[in-house]
Amino acid sequence: MEALALERKAEQNRELRERLVQLKKERNAIILAHYYQRDEIQEVADFRGDSFLLAQKAAATDADVIVFCGVHFMGESAKILAPNKIVLVPDERAGCPMADMVHPIGLRELKAKHPNAKVVTYINSSADVKAETDICCTSANAVKVVNSVDADEIIWCPDKNLGHYVSQFTDKKMIIWEGYCNTHDMLTVKDVAEMRAKHPNAQFVVHPECRPEVVALADFVGSTTAIIKYCRESDHQEFIVGTEDGTGYQLRLDSPNKTFHFASKFLVCPNMKVNNLKKVVRCLETMQPQIYVSPEVADKARLSLERMLQVK
Ligand code: 13P
Ligand code: SF4
Repeated sequence: MEALALERKAEQNRELRERLVQLKKERNAIILAHYYQRDEIQEVADFRGDSFLLAQKAAATDADVIVFCGVHFMGESAKILAPNKIVLVPDERAGCPMADMVHPIGLRELKAKHPNAKVVTYINSSADVKAETDICCTSANAVKVVNSVDADEIIWCPDKNLGHYVSQFTDKKMIIWEGYCNTHDMLTVKDVAEMRAKHPNAQFVVHPECRPEVVALADFVGSTTAIIKYCRESDHQEFIVGTEDGTGYQLRLDSPNKTFHFASKFLVCPNMKVNNLKKVVRCLETMQPQIYVSPEVADKARLSLERMLQVK
């Protein structure tokens, strides 16, 4: 962007931030932002976090309105956990292709084939799928959740890559759905080899939504929060990062003197980037779009989320 355009954008964002402070007060609203959101949104969030932390915050808030800056399933989870709150999203077109890869009808068919199995569903799923689920998990607690389940057989959905990762840390038989994250699944062994050759002193940290052969190359594997914590606390100074590029905001904030190289230019989730600061302000102005989940579905789905929140 040219200098003048940059200046204009900075001025516009200043005005939007001022308007947002006013609106938040008027509406008694809280802003939750996933680490994959644009920097301009993470900057104004009351809480930044991964899926797990933000679900906890939604369940615990005493605000009247939750503005959930992430993708649709995250807003839905917030609404299920806090049914009496208004949950707004900046743009309801921000969906998650992985969540759309499993439908409740298909899941019911699989359950019928494995009547003794319990269903563990990644939080990246629709409310309808959560309603068919025994317990949810996120990438931050997936291994713990699977091992907490009272069954030898697990139906796991929808992320095959995370499912493969978890299966290495459990004796349970895992029946794994064939879904995946279009963004993380794009990272290849070749990408990592090229980055390692360019940055021989860097450690490679990766999200378990990446392919198994990519995860196998990592110095550290963890959820977005775990990656951020590892990089902050590590004595290493340079990292190749195998997760979505919005994570760079928190990584650089925590460790301004360390160097972070994203492992591929394709590690950008276009769905997460549908939201912007202007839309955050607009949704609080208009109180639209709101997330709605039918009470019958929400009551069933809530059980699966609450069971997850209780796993220690
Ligand atoms: P976490 O927030 O659990 O790290 O998951 C990553 C993700 O892809 C969210 O959409
Ligand atoms: Fe879905 Fe992947 Fe985007 Fe997360 S990063 S919202 S899993 S497509």
